[in-house]
Amino acid sequence: RSGSLVLDPDFTIGPVDRRLFGSFVEHMGRAVYTGVFEPGHPEADENGFRGDVLRLVRELGVSVVRYPGGNFVSGYRWEDGVGPVGERPNRLDLAWRQHETNRFGLDEFVCWTRSAGVEPMMAVNLGTRGVQEACDLLEYANHDSGTYWSDLRVKHGSPAPHDIRLWCLGNEPDGPWQLGAKTAYEYGRLANETAKAMRRVDPGIELVLCGSSNSSMPTFGTWEATALEQAYDTVDYISLHAYYEERDHDLASFLASAVDMDGFIDGVVATADHVRAKLRERKKMMLSFDEWNVWTQRRFTGRQRADWEHAPRLIEETYTAADAVVVGSYLITLLRHADRVRVACQAQLVNVIAPIRTEPSGPSWRQTTYHPFALTARWARGTVLRVESTSPQCVTSAFGAVPALDAVATHDEDTGDIALFCVNRSTTDALPVSGRLGTREPLALLDAVVVAAEVPHAVNDPRTPDRVVPKPLSNARVDANVVTALLPPASWSLIRLS
Ligand code: AHR
Repeated sequence: RSGSLVLDPDFTIGPVDRRLFGSFVEHMGRAVYTGVFEPGHPEADENGFRGDVLRLVRELGVSVVRYPGGNFVSGYRWEDGVGPVGERPNRLDLAWRQHETNRFGLDEFVCWTRSAGVEPMMAVNLGTRGVQEACDLLEYANHDSGTYWSDLRVKHGSPAPHDIRLWCLGNEPDGPWQLGAKTAYEYGRLANETAKAMRRVDPGIELVLCGSSNSSMPTFGTWEATALEQAYDTVDYISLHAYYEERDHDLASFLASAVDMDGFIDGVVATADHVRAKLRERKKMMLSFDEWNVWTQRRFTGRQRADWEHAPRLIEETYTAADAVVVGSYLITLLRHADRVRVACQAQLVNVIAPIRTEPSGPSWRQTTYHPFALTARWARGTVLRVESTSPQCVTSAFGAVPALDAVATHDEDTGDIALFCVNRSTTDALPVSGRLGTREPLALLDAVVVAAEVPHAVNDPRTPDRVVPKPLSNARVDANVVTALLPPASWSLIRLS
């Protein structure tokens, strides 16, 4: 009972877009305050940005960061967060029942992205606001100078435009929990008019239309079709959001949950292509998977929202070894769809369902899920290759029988290196794998590492921050362009060849 795979540098899927390694910072809980921003922290820089967090973000390899929400954006007045700090208003945040001081806003965020070396991705409020406010924000951010909003930015200390390329048209408007929720038709019309006007302010921007909040929404499918019919011409991407969790101690189904993510992507691609055919459009709609992660939502109920506190502890998930394996498997899925998924943001970056955790005035540490993300962001380079694989099946109650082995590879044309990412979904059995490499030159093993859920619920915490870390996969070998390895049960591995 072994697995086999074949890959060939000629069988390509698409380029590895660096934007696949995106993340998300929402004004929610302690993502911003005491997360990325904590003036007075021993490691804070002159802007109040935590230097320890900046180092971890850089090491994580994050490429693009979405901001300021999330549900938060649907009630946000962006003007509150710019200008002299002492004049910024305190507001009620109706999304999370928090107290928002506006001490951190657009200009601070853009400054932080420059320090972190990431691209900003901005969302506009299409919940309680509309076309005009979105245009004002874009004019403030991207117009040179000589107009009311751009001169205000200059006055606030940013003479050069922020030059933000990626913009989300609202957030999850299909969800009844969203402020200013809409029908697909209402949203599609508003998004189209907003996109049209924003492109007049800055024709160089890229725009993301909201798809469904998740694939279980009753309107999934029809929402995408209806909204795209209204806005196909004016947008570049349609969004997907998905969160998964281990339910009822069913680890086997959880380890296989990327099967659902795969199907979700395929469904949105099919729907977008249906609208494309119907409208006789040439342009292929790309996908922005701008919220994905493991999130134990059953622990989060409306009652657990904050009671108008500032920076409360909200959904500070402590990730397990099993969660890390599953996060690795989602990255395999995203890479496999690199022909259509061009942006992906793990939700979120710091403290709130995040790979990085902090304590106020205290330490920061890498959660278990940090590791597969950092390794994939670092070594998935060049072009994604199709991997044909066969393996024994695992029987799951949620997804039926699924192959134990899931894999994808990338080929860096500059160096000739290949990175092979594999997951063994079996909860019980190690999986011997043999892979045929169709490369012209013989390859040698560079490195092989594994994140295994030997103790599925092991976690990292400030006292033992390195309990779950990648270990050498010492049984990996390459001989005559055949790579072999024994993948431990419930594990994610990276095998690098040169
Ligand atoms: O990431 C947390 C929340 O999940 C976001 O605010 C929202 O968009 C989604 O439902």
